[in-house]
Amino acid sequence: MTDSLTRAPRFLLAATLVLIVVACGKDPAQESGLFLPPPGFVADAKRGEALFNEHCAQCHGQGARGTDQGPPLVHRIYEPGHHSDMSFYMAVKQGVRAHHWQFGNMPPREGVSAEETGHIIAYVRREQRRAGIN
Ligand code: HEC
Repeated sequence: MTDSLTRAPRFLLAATLVLIVVACGKDPAQESGLFLPPPGFVADAKRGEALFNEHCAQCHGQGARGTDQGPPLVHRIYEPGHHSDMSFYMAVKQGVRAHHWQFGNMPPREGVSAEETGHIIAYVRREQRRAGIN
């Protein structure tokens, strides 16, 4: 009798603590399904350059100057005012339906993480700045 009375509140307390830890431990961006780097992420254009060459250059070209498979990203159309960083995350995650050019659709880049995309964006923005675009 005394046993079950003291055990019940303790169990409830433990269950509540577990719930709090689980609820607070989740990153809100991840939970809502957003494809974004975690808070505190610092982008590195140098890493972005290597990642761009590996995953994007086959279509977007050396230095993001374009090929016959895809458009240049160093182009006024893709400056931040026209295509925010969010449009880069979405392009990598979901692909792009052809709308600006005649190259066809861009398929999603499945092997590329949100963090890697953040580095790639830093690189493309740097190249845009160097070309006097951004
Ligand atoms: C297989 C070819 C291909 C690869 C690989 C590729 N892209 Fe693309 N991408 C395209 C094409 C084609 C378009 C243009 C679609 C249009 O607007 O007509 C495009 C458009 C975009 C856009 C513009 C999105 C918009 O909202 O208009 C961004 C940003 C972009 N690509 C980023 C990337 C990044 C970053 C990578 C590497 C992780 C990458 N792409 C790899 C073909 C490619």
